[in-house]
Amino acid sequence: MPAWTCAGSSDGNRPPPAARVDAALRHRAVKPGLLLLALVPFAGLLHGAVTNTLGANPAEALIRGTGDWTLRLLCLTLAVTPLRQAAGLPSLARFRRMLGLFTFFYAALHMLCYAWLDMGFVVADIVRDIAKRPFILVGTAALLLMLPLAATSFNRAIRALGARRWQLLHRAVYAVAGLAILHFFWMRAGKNDFVEVGVYAAVIALLLGWRLVRWRAAGFAPVR
Ligand code: HEM
Repeated sequence: MPAWTCAGSSDGNRPPPAARVDAALRHRAVKPGLLLLALVPFAGLLHGAVTNTLGANPAEALIRGTGDWTLRLLCLTLAVTPLRQAAGLPSLARFRRMLGLFTFFYAALHMLCYAWLDMGFVVADIVRDIAKRPFILVGTAALLLMLPLAATSFNRAIRALGARRWQLLHRAVYAVAGLAILHFFWMRAGKNDFVEVGVYAAVIALLLGWRLVRWRAAGFAPVR
């Protein structure tokens, strides 16, 4: 029986705010709503490309736009567990897989835009560029690390791997976050522009630091 239904509660049977938000998050319209919301940046970029309203350098706008959204969705994915536990919203866990898959979707789109618009799909040029520019190499490493995570984000893969191994594998998302920040930092270092990088680095440090603190407090037992 939920705690708020106990006799003596000051406002009768009214559940606490977190429980009400959590119940609202379980509404069947929330997941499709989030799916549509996550597609809005894609629709915006596609519309801009089709109507030629992406500014003087549409290729750069597409590459940078998809890169920005990859990083934003990565931050949102990493925020699910801290928010779920700190705010008492267990239902948030329902959205983690979708957010993770959208992170991969935008990362793949980002790579596709680069390979097409910057490199004209010439594989030899892409390979040379990866070897020549460290920030491209680091971005590629991040994308490659995301591949097994996206491929094993379905229930059948979780069952096949077993929960423990699946959890260990999915810790690679922390390395993806580190590589993503390094990629962004290196790219902006050429322009001596670190403000945005600093903001994303602080958000990611906070989200990973929170896990580290919890993990230490639990005697280094697995954090879920
Ligand atoms: C998890 C993977 C990745 C993330 C999170 C990411 C994120 C970003 C971000 C945030 C930017 C800067 C956008 C801005 O300036 O507003 C960017 C730029 C860029 N990224 Fe990535 N990226 C990733 C993977 C890759 C990969 C795999 C490639 C290509 C192999 C790549 C190539 C580029 C290029 C060419 C730019 C633009 C550089 C410029 O305009 O000078 N990225 N990326």
